[in-house]
Amino acid sequence: MIKPDAFEAGNSGAILKMIEEAGFKIVAMKATQLTPVLAGKFYEVHKERPFYADLCKYMSSGPIIAAILEKDNAVEDFRALIGATNPANAAEGTIRKIFAKSIEANAVHGSDSDENAAIEGNFYFSQTERVL
Ligand code: CMP
Repeated sequence: MIKPDAFEAGNSGAILKMIEEAGFKIVAMKATQLTPVLAGKFYEVHKERPFYADLCKYMSSGPIIAAILEKDNAVEDFRALIGATNPANAAEGTIRKIFAKSIEANAVHGSDSDENAAIEGNFYFSQTERVL
């Protein structure tokens, strides 16, 4: 996902360029906006965390871009490309180092496993909305 802060700042194109240049193939993509309830579902795994309520509010505060990406070793390579959750700890040249505003408004989300990538892809896209 490209999160509301990055979308609002007009950084979606630059972020997608970095993603494609790193060798990822975009096999599904859409701009949309989450409701607080949908944001809560997407981030359900974090529901006991102190930042959950704020996160749901923030993630439904404006448009986002959802995409499914394909690449060998995609989960690990994408996490390397985006950098640490907190941009203060993100390596130079990573997407979050360049574009994130805070630990919450951190520009992008990447799935943390192949299993969660499938779940999160299915959250946004049906079979006919993606390249097979
Ligand atoms: P993301 O990788 O999408 O996964 C959970 C999100 O919660 C994270 O990025 C941030 O946007 C947000 N968040 C806010 N505060 C924290 C925190 N203290 N630790 C981890 N994630 C946080």
